Parts: sequence; C-alpha cells; structure tokens
Amino acid sequence: MPPSLYRWDLSRRPAKRAAMQRRVASFDNDLAPAPDALAVAQWVRARAALSGGVDSPVRAGSPVGAPTPMLASGHGAHVLDVTGRTYIDYICAYGPVLLGHGDLRVAAAVGRAMHAGAVLGATHPEEVRLAERVQRLFPSMQRVRFVSTGTEACMSALRVARAFTKREKCIRFEGCYHGHSDAMIFSAGASSLSTPSLAAGVTNAVSGDVIVLPYNDADAVARALLGHAGEVSAVIVEPICGNMGLCMPVAGYLQRLRELCSKSGAVLIFDEVITALRVGPGGAQALYGVEPDLTCIGKTLGGGLPIAAFGGRADIMAQLAPDGAVFVGGTFSGNPACVAGAHALLDVLAEDRGFHERLEKLARRLADGLAAIVRQRGLDFPVTQCASMVDLKFRKGPAHENMAQAREVDAAAYAAFYHAMLARGVLLPPSSMELMFLTGAHTENDIDCTLQAAHEALA
Ligand SMILES: Cc1ncc(COP(=O)(O)O)c(C=O)c1O
Repeated sequence: MPPSLYRWDLSRRPAKRAAMQRRVASFDNDLAPAPDALAVAQWVRARAALSGGVDSPVRAGSPVGAPTPMLASGHGAHVLDVTGRTYIDYICAYGPVLLGHGDLRVAAAVGRAMHAGAVLGATHPEEVRLAERVQRLFPSMQRVRFVSTGTEACMSALRVARAFTKREKCIRFEGCYHGHSDAMIFSAGASSLSTPSLAAGVTNAVSGDVIVLPYNDADAVARALLGHAGEVSAVIVEPICGNMGLCMPVAGYLQRLRELCSKSGAVLIFDEVITALRVGPGGAQALYGVEPDLTCIGKTLGGGLPIAAFGGRADIMAQLAPDGAVFVGGTFSGNPACVAGAHALLDVLAEDRGFHERLEKLARRLADGLAAIVRQRGLDFPVTQCASMVDLKFRKGPAHENMAQAREVDAAAYAAFYHAMLARGVLLPPSSMELMFLTGAHTENDIDCTLQAAHEALA
C-alpha cells in the first residue's frame, strides 16, 4: 500500500477535521454505517483533489449512501482497501476484469510491450493481428477500428451510421447505457440513479434527435420507425442489458429489431461492451444468432487495459476517414500496450476452452445459492444469471424486462444488504442497477463464503 495514503493526520488539525468530516458527511445517510477515521481521511483527501472524490459517479455510491471502499490493490478475485480490509470482489471494475485482478499473463505481455514502446502513433502488426482475431470471433465485424473506451466506440458507431444513412435521428432504449457522449446520456441505466440530471450540459438539438423507448418492446420500435419514416439512422441496443441490473432480451426481441432495421434502412448497432467475450467468445450475437450491422466492444477486450473497438459491415465502415469522410481518431487508439493486453486475454481464452463453461457453472452456483436463501427468508426476489453475470433484484415478482420494472426495486433494502455484505467481506456493486461480475479467479470457496455472508445479511 502506498505510504502516501496515510500522510493525512487528522488528529493534529481538529478544526480542519471537523470541517472535512462535515463535507464527507455529504456521502452519508442513515443507510451507511459511520466510516472509520482512516477511511474518512482518505475521502477528505480525495474530495479535495478529485471532483467529487471520484473519476466516475457510480463510485461515489450515492444509491447506498456511501462511496465504495477506496481500493489499494486487487489480487485474483479479491481486493484490498486502504484500511487493510480484503473483500471478495463482485464489482470487478464493472466488467473488464475477466481473468481476475493482476493476472500475471496479461501483466507480462503488457510489460514486454511497454519496453518496445507503449504508444507508437503508427499502425503496427500486432494491432492488425488483433483486428483479425476480433473478425474471427465476431464475423459481423468485417472492418474494425480500435478506440480506447466503450464511450468512444458507441459514439463513433452512431456517427458512422448517421453518415451512412444520411439520417439524423437514432433510437435507444431506457436502461441501456452506451457511454457518456451527448447523444447517449439519457435514461442511462445505473447512471440515472447516481446522477441527478443526465441531460444537463446537452443541447436540445442533440437530445431532440434521440428517441428513447422501453427495452424489450419491439412494437414500440415499429411504431417509432413508422412515425419517423426515413429519419432514423440507427437503433442501438445492449443485446443483453447490464445497466439496469441484468435484463435479458425476451424471446424474439433481437430478431425483431433485426427485421425492423433491415426494413427501414436503419443501422442495427449491438453494444456488446459488456457482453463481448464475457457471455462467450462471440458475444451475444453468437448466442442469439442475430447479426447486427455494427458492433461495439470494450471492457473485457484488453484483459483489464483500456481498449475498445467498433466495427461491422465493410460498406458502412467505409464511411470512416481516410476511405470516407467521418473522422474518428485517437492518440492512444490501438496502442501496443493495450493491444498486448488484449492478445494475452485472447490467448488464455483460446488455450482454456473450458473457461466460459467453468465460469458459468460458478455463477450458477452463486445464483442458485442466492435464490435458495431468498426463498428460505420468504422473500420473492428474482435472481437472474447469464454466463458470469448475476443479479439479485430486491423487487417482488419475476425478473424485470425493462427499466420501469427495474425501478420498482426496494433501493433502501438493497443498500442495507450492500452494507451487511461489505461488513462480511463481500464487495457488491453500490447500486441495485448494477450487477455482480465473476472472474476466472473466483473459486467455489469464494462463492460459498459469499452465500454464507448473504445468509446472515438477509436475516
Ligand atoms: C454497455 C456499455 N456500453 C458502453 C459503455 C461505456 O464504456 P466506457 O466506460 O469504457 O466508456 C459501458 C460502460 O459501462 C457499458 O456498460
């Protein structure tokens, strides 16, 4: 742990301490237990340096009334906070960590690449080889462009779709999250619970071009395409939604979106930033047998490093400069260090053919265990699981199918559960609209300890 984290000595500055604690108290509500002095000191320091103490609003933990523990390091399936406590991690950086924290195979590959120049500012052979590997895994991605984040991938895919169709509007779905670009930051899943006004700072011109519809309602899409005939450039969707908890597509939904887009001339964009490589090597499109026109991938791709991509039909991607007129660039796009991380991950997945199956079995153990505990407690809460993603929704009835149903969650009960689990060494996502991610480093023992903690917490 870096010693600098402990430099703040509150006891020597009582007045400052009181003022700082008042500021930190803005994190708290009656759901959160009082943080200990060291954690308070760290957050005081963070808030004085970082805007809001965080670099991404979800980490402030507003829905559970306290920021997530400030983490010093991650090892496999576990993370260590600055006060020295360890947790079994189910946040897993909100998706990118597929092999586990600090995977040595990724670290070694990235280290080697760093020595040969972390960023070169020119196309390099490993970048081309990575694009070829992506093409093999996602045959719909006939052409690929690497960027650094999922936000860039989705924003760029939409721009390409607008240029290709020469239309301005797009359809997206409430509860899906496609990054924080202007056009995409409405009704954006978990973010809408931690951010008061998602439209703040976005012009009416931009928001006026975005049609937001309920998830899993293909008829609503059909009506919108009819009402805006010839105006809709793209329909962007998370084929399995991971931003209102875990929300599965109802039978036939994705196929229907495919048909509607083909008929209307709108570009179908699958945002597989969460699902690519996590639900299986070919993502949700392989799982459901539906081929989008464009695909966005990210998160898991870099083995923990920031690399993302969008790609799809060659005629649509030909809109991109230098072949076409759409400008999408990036100083760090396709840099050798992140590309090496991606190759290392893909090497592991290629060698370990049983990886996804093993992970799914582990996730099922967790989901079945949670469902049994919930039943024992006489609670009628659904547990949803897909591949290595698990969601326990504090809401009565069957699994939710859209954001309106996801909102029926008992957020206060979830917050209490979150803190009870935290006290027992289990780090859950700090919002009932996020989901639990597992990694290849989680073990049956981790799952069983988690279930024991849940058993006590739900008491
Ligand atoms: C489905 C989806 N798309 C896009 C993004 C944006 O990715 P990034 O945070 O890398 O910009 C996210 C991030 O959570 C996401 O879940």
